Formats: sequence, structure tokens, C-alpha cells
Amino acid sequence: MEYRQERCRRVVLVPLPFQGHITPMLYLGTILHSKGFHITIAHTQFNFPNPLNYPHFDFLKLYDGICEQNISAHNFIAVISGFNTNCKGHLRDSLARIMEKVDQHNKIACIIYDEYMHFAEEVANYLRIPSIILSTSSAAKTLSYLAYPRLQNDGYIPCQDSMMLELVPGLEPLRFKDLTITYFRNWDDLLQHIAKALDRRSSSAMIWNSMDCLEQSTLKKIQQEYQLPLFPIGPLNKTVPAISISLLKEDQSCIPWLDKQSHNSVIYISLGSCASMDNKDLVEMAWGLSNSEQPFLWVVRMDSTELPEGFQEAVGDRGCIVKWAPQKQVLVHTAVGGFWSHCGWNSTIESISEGVPLICQPYYGDQRVNARYLTQVWGVGLEWESDMNRGEIEGAIRRLMVGKEGELIRQRAKDLKEKIESSMKQGGSSYNSMNDLVDLILSF
Ligand code: UDX
Repeated sequence: MEYRQERCRRVVLVPLPFQGHITPMLYLGTILHSKGFHITIAHTQFNFPNPLNYPHFDFLKLYDGICEQNISAHNFIAVISGFNTNCKGHLRDSLARIMEKVDQHNKIACIIYDEYMHFAEEVANYLRIPSIILSTSSAAKTLSYLAYPRLQNDGYIPCQDSMMLELVPGLEPLRFKDLTITYFRNWDDLLQHIAKALDRRSSSAMIWNSMDCLEQSTLKKIQQEYQLPLFPIGPLNKTVPAISISLLKEDQSCIPWLDKQSHNSVIYISLGSCASMDNKDLVEMAWGLSNSEQPFLWVVRMDSTELPEGFQEAVGDRGCIVKWAPQKQVLVHTAVGGFWSHCGWNSTIESISEGVPLICQPYYGDQRVNARYLTQVWGVGLEWESDMNRGEIEGAIRRLMVGKEGELIRQRAKDLKEKIESSMKQGGSSYNSMNDLVDLILSF
């Protein structure tokens, strides 16, 4: 482990407190710590991680003024704006106190903040410290957000039902149905929220959990817009040694079960930390899995008593059901041959960096954009566009796991995995980006 004692500096990290955002931020903190930086995690009270699990970090708990019971996917924008309003004063005062004790050990080099926690940039400006943005989703999603004002001016927003399957001018292969905004009734609120997140007023750079081999041309377009250095340093899940950043308890019992399954035979089903199937879809999924005759590992976050009667008996040992899986360990396991995913960006990156092909069933937010790229650009997934119906579910699983089409997709996933591995090796694009990022922080 590299340790630049003589240049010890503190970096303050401000994650958005949801699993899909905390994970890449803490990975980044772990990498920077290994490069010799002291790390302070400034975190909301909501979802505050257990500091005992991260003895190498210091923690600062930010008063967030949010009532946990009121947090849901439906009021996401209000919750984020609450964090931005309520956490600002506390972060500013706490960092000012740290800065009073100026010695080499405590000198704050910069603040790195989740793109949605933009209050941290205002605090950095006030304290005259540089700031850097971490984007925890795909560059393709950001490019689509950047296009919204143009699409609004050209009369495409709000989007008409008749346009849903049309390609979005300038964002091909995305269709209107793939845009986040299409699903918002209060699209005006969303536009304002996005405008705030995209306004790069004064930050020094942007970090991406992505790679040149995946999104180079998209990143170039974003760079033209922002005129900032961009650091695609992904896949973070592969750069960081095995640490668990899970907010929920991982059920390890699925690993010995996977050990008993044959190579590439298991389909893994998980919809991340927010999306979930309604009861009717859950029943169709259960019988689709049963009828597919493939072994499966299924993450059912709700109570598995919701599963249909007779299902567990019908599948017996062929199926393993857990409430929360150790996903990194699952995807690296040689028994896993496919991933039925909601296509959150972390799941996307974790799957393709292990060469696991996907069935893409996006729900909301960036997931539709990711699914479109997975299926149409990188060619490593099957697009799920039907209603949940057991016959079609069975068919899709067979197409991916045992069909000719699945073989081609699997080969492309293997090729992409190799490219990703090269980008992480000495001289590779992600490797170089990481070093450039460290040099930038040391230059502050
Ligand atoms: C959210 C958004 O939904 C997503 O679209 C966005 O890109 C990031 O924020 P989430 O839905 O949780 O994230 O999905 P994802 O980005 O895939 O992150 C889920 C994380 O939870 C992954 O790192 C995955 O490894 C982990 N996970 C998931 C587990 O460890 N166990 C599980 O059983 C399921």
C-alpha cells in the first residue's frame, strides 16, 4: 500500500445517503486512504454507517432534519433538497473548526461530494477549499439530463405518449421512454432539481465510476460542456479490496449453495435497494423461474411469505432465496451465468466487470438509460420490455442462459470484461485517471 506520509492531507467526502451512492463514495475514500490521504466522511444522520466497520475513516454526523418515515421514492426530490438545506450550516461550522487546528495532518485538501449534495460546494467556496464532484451514475445519464433544456425548448417536454418509442434527437439510441423526465408528473420540479445538480459553478473536476472503454465519447461531450477535468476511474468495485459497504445484513448462506451449482448455470435476480416487484409480478416471476428449470438465486427484500403457495416445494434445492445477497461475491462466482437486474449503475458496473450478461428490467431514474446502453450499445444484455408474464419470463431466462443468442451475449460480456481489466492495469485509462486525480488533489 502506497503511503505518502510527507504529504498527508485530509479529504472530506460527502455522500448522498442511499446505498447506490454511499457504496461508490466509500470505495473512493478507501482508495484515497490507500494513497496516503486522511479521510473524513461527512454523513447525514439518515443511514449513518457504523464507524466501527471503517476504522480507517473519521466520521462527521450531519444534522439532516429529515424524518426517516417520510423518505420514499415518491418524495425523493424533496428529501434531497432537505439534505441540501439542512446540512449546510453544520458542515460549514464543523469544517471551520477542523481548519482552525491547522497542521499538516488536518489541512483539508478538498471536499468531494455526491453530485446531488451540492450544498457541499457552497461550503467549500465559503471556506475557500477546492471541491470535486463524484457522479455515481453513468455519463450517458448525465448527457441525457444536459439535453433537457434543449428538448424543452424544442417542445418535446412534456413528452407525448405517441412519441415514446421515437429516438431522442441527439441522444440515440435513447428513446423518449428511456428518459427519466418522461415519468415525472411534476416535471418542472425535476427540471429545477436537475438544473441544480448539473450547475458546475466552481468545482475543480468530476469523478466517474465509469471507464473510457465504456463511455469515452459520452464523457468527451460532457467535457465539452463543462470544460472541467473528468476522471473516469471505474470500476470502483474491482479497485477496492473486499470490503462490505452494505447497509443491510448480507445473507452469506447463498455462497455454499452457489458452490454446489455448475458453471454459468445460475440466474441471479436482484432489483437493488429501492425498486421492487408488486405482488402480482412477484408471483409471475416465481412461476417463470420455476418453469425455466434453471437454478436461481433470488433477492426478495420483502417477506418471502408473499411467494405463491407450492412454489418453494416445486423448485426445492434448485432455488435459493435471500433478503439481501453479498452481491459482489455472487457476481464473481463461476456458477453465476446471468443477472436479472433493474440496471442501477452499481449493479451494471459490478455485472459487466465480472463478465456476467444481463436481463435488463429497468424501473425508474437512470435505470432505463443504463438498460438501453447495456442492450443496444455494449450488447451484453437482453432488454425486458413486456409485462411480467410467467411464459415470457421463462423464455427470456432460457434465451440468455441456454440459447444461441445468449451465447453471443455472453461472449460480448467476456470481451467487455477483458477491456475493463486492461483499463485497470498499469498504463490503462482508469489506472492513469486515478493517478491524475491524486496528483490534482496533491496540487491543491
Ligand atoms: C440507486 C438507483 O436506483 C440507481 O438507479 C442509481 O444508479 C444508484 O442509486 P440502487 O437501486 O440501490 O441504486 O441500485 P444499484 O446502483 O445497483 O446499487 C445497489 C447496490 O446494492 C450494489 O452495489 C449491489 O452490489 C448492492 N446489493 C444489491 C447487495 O449488496 N445485495 C443485494 O442483495 C442487492
